[in-house]
Amino acid sequence: MLLRARARIARWQSSSRLQRLATAFLLTRPIARQRAARLFALSAGFTGSQILVACVRLRLLERLLEKPLTAASLATRLELPVETLQRLLDAAVALDIVACHGEHYLPGTLGAALLGNPGAVAMILHHDALYADLADPAGLVAAAPADRTSALARYWPYAGAGRPIALREPEIAAYSTLMSQSQAFIADQVLAAYPLARHRMLLDIGGGEGVFAIAAARRHPHLQVRVFDLPAVADRAAARIDQAGLAARAAAIGGSFLADPLPVGADVATLVRVLHDHDAPSVRGLLGRVRAALPQEGTLVVAEPLAGTDAWVDSYFACYFLAMGQGRLRTPGELTALLREAGFPRVTRLRTRLPLLTGVLVADAG
Ligand SMILES: C[S@@+](CC[C@H](N)C(=O)[O-])C[C@H]1O[C@@H](n2cnc3c(N)ncnc32)[C@H](O)[C@@H]1O
Repeated sequence: MLLRARARIARWQSSSRLQRLATAFLLTRPIARQRAARLFALSAGFTGSQILVACVRLRLLERLLEKPLTAASLATRLELPVETLQRLLDAAVALDIVACHGEHYLPGTLGAALLGNPGAVAMILHHDALYADLADPAGLVAAAPADRTSALARYWPYAGAGRPIALREPEIAAYSTLMSQSQAFIADQVLAAYPLARHRMLLDIGGGEGVFAIAAARRHPHLQVRVFDLPAVADRAAARIDQAGLAARAAAIGGSFLADPLPVGADVATLVRVLHDHDAPSVRGLLGRVRAALPQEGTLVVAEPLAGTDAWVDSYFACYFLAMGQGRLRTPGELTALLREAGFPRVTRLRTRLPLLTGVLVADAG
């Protein structure tokens, strides 16, 4: 009944005559304006992303942070025609990436925030691959899920790889560097939400280059840490651990969490930005292995963006995983069900400072 009523409302809303009336009528005009603005933002949103990309690629914000500049002096420094640069500046000012003060330009609120966040800059630059795949979004939807020819599937070669363990340094270098650039920020969020003070040994599964594990070890001087990742990535983590002078308390272990048993000995395991990369059968297999590696009173911490937190995050990741060929963002309820099924009966969701970046679920085995 409710569905039939909603379908009737949708038909009614799609009438162009009604839309004209709603715009003309004083009381409904604010609603009509708001809908028009939302639809315009949806259809033109890609221009905003590309303006941001242009500012990042030209390192325009760094120049303006050093010193506010006029369009002409910025054009000279960047060796660009002032007429075209002026158009980019107009666009960037409109979006608060750049601010204008008289004749001079300086970073805007969002531009300044970006300058303090190298991980976000790296994410913006790697969007080239997603943008290329989205040039034909309908084609992407029509492609078979097993078709791994997308730019993003090549960027994340473990997605759909028959033997991810065989991936070598040149194949993992780009994504591994990208992840390590944003990992410190995520580590702050996770360790603030769930301090590891009561634990003895941490196993960070799919821990990349070890930035999270190193941050945990630095914060808790008694904590032993282990990073488990594909062998080529684990080699990078081992190098970072050495550089950090933590070899006595930290180690990196290579293997595939989809095929190999996980190292035992830890009383807490973490999966940071890992589960959302995988479809349910792989997640079930992985969680089973985590449970087997932990003692009876062991704890698993899952940290990743959660579905339902923000509409843009939901739609971004839906596109991202469509292009990548696997994975999905899950709600806290869906993750809780998977965790319980794997033998973690008590699951608690913790607050994070920036839920847009990551949520945290703590799952106790005992
Ligand atoms: C999205 S990254 C997250 C890395 C890190 N946890 C972070 O938040 O920056 C996923 C990680 O899982 C690792 N990974 C993917 N498949 C794997 C597998 N079968 N076995 C072990 N590690 C794997 C990747 O190499 C990568 O480091």
